[in-house]
Amino acid sequence: MQILVTGGTGYIGSHTVIELIRYGHTPVIVDNLSNSKITALDGIEKISGVRPEFYELDVCDKAALSQVFKTHDFAACIHFAGLKAVGESVRLPLEYYKNNLLSTITLLECMRENGCKCIIFSSSATVYGDPASLPIKEDFPLSTTNPYGTTKLMIERILRDFQFANKECSVTLLRYFNPIGAHPTGLLGEDPNGIPNNLLPVVMKAAKGELTLNVFGNDYDTPDGTGVRDYIHVCDLAAGHTAALKNAGKPGVFVYNLGTGSGFSVLEIINTFERVNGVKVPYVIADRRPGDIAACYADPSKAERELGFKAVHGIEDMCRDAWNYAKDR
Ligand code: NAD
Ligand code: UD1
Repeated sequence: MQILVTGGTGYIGSHTVIELIRYGHTPVIVDNLSNSKITALDGIEKISGVRPEFYELDVCDKAALSQVFKTHDFAACIHFAGLKAVGESVRLPLEYYKNNLLSTITLLECMRENGCKCIIFSSSATVYGDPASLPIKEDFPLSTTNPYGTTKLMIERILRDFQFANKECSVTLLRYFNPIGAHPTGLLGEDPNGIPNNLLPVVMKAAKGELTLNVFGNDYDTPDGTGVRDYIHVCDLAAGHTAALKNAGKPGVFVYNLGTGSGFSVLEIINTFERVNGVKVPYVIADRRPGDIAACYADPSKAERELGFKAVHGIEDMCRDAWNYAKDR
């Protein structure tokens, strides 16, 4: 299948492109390179032996995107393109709403005009807000606490309305938990611009001696008092997308958690990272980060039941592969 991958030079998109090629699909990437580098294509080519077709464009640019649709016959679109930094979204809400909503609406217009009937969307566990119980199932109530999360929830709603009006279409909402790690070859990984906020990138900067990690709170109601999350290897997450293509021909809206179902605390991540990589991660206990929740992990059984998807990489693999990619950068 020819598959349009928006945001395909980014962290999760580039790993998914590898997976698509492995399954015999033909991915075509569009990305404006606002948060990724063209060199991701070199990594993809070295790993897969294929250099996918690439268009540098903004998905909000209808004329440019239409041209790509006229040149190809897409069986499905996987829509990764979007801005994703929570803190930045609080400072720049209009930029987040404009980019994330307009890119999605533009993509849907192009799909409708060109007869493409399947979209897979990168949503987030952030749409569950502070869940009343754990593990989180797909039918839990939805709420958000920041503009980034609200764009995800609004896009989910737009996609549901689009599918209601276009009954032959297949819409899959994938709610990612916490993706970390990198391709085991060390050729692809996460290269965050500026100062990182997410735990693993900060752990790696601390391991390089560039900063001291602040552990945000050790007084949560969790086994060791630090925050618990469901970390998923980015290669597993990528495999979740090829699995989701099973729904491509089925009309409807499908929602899946992509996680492992296991929660790990901040201290467990630090200890595992130190152990598997033989490095020290200097840290101090700091105040809680505003907006954080104590614990968040998925019930991943729906994706396993309906898509046959199950994450296979453990936390050791995630810590090892992340460091293998980042240590010399
Ligand atoms: P990323 O920033 O590495 O990749 C996103 C890509 O989209 C980048 O290459 C960027 O240049 C591109 N892009 C952004 N706006 C664009 C536009 N208007 N037109 C064209 N390209 C555009 O992020 P990622 O971690 O790979 O995340 C991919 C998707 O998954 C995002 O939608 C993100 O919100 C979602 N998500 C990510 C996480 C996470 O922790 N990484 C968790 C949940 C959901
Ligand atoms: C963040 C985003 C969320 C996004 C998710 C997946 C926020 C508020 N939420 O969630 O929208 O979907 O990433 O990528 O940013 N921690 C530290 N010190 C640090 C950094 C993090 O102790 O320097 C702790 C946090 O308190 C948390 C855990 O590590 O307990 C994970 O944090 P992070 O990687 O930022 O992810 P989330 O907060 O789960």
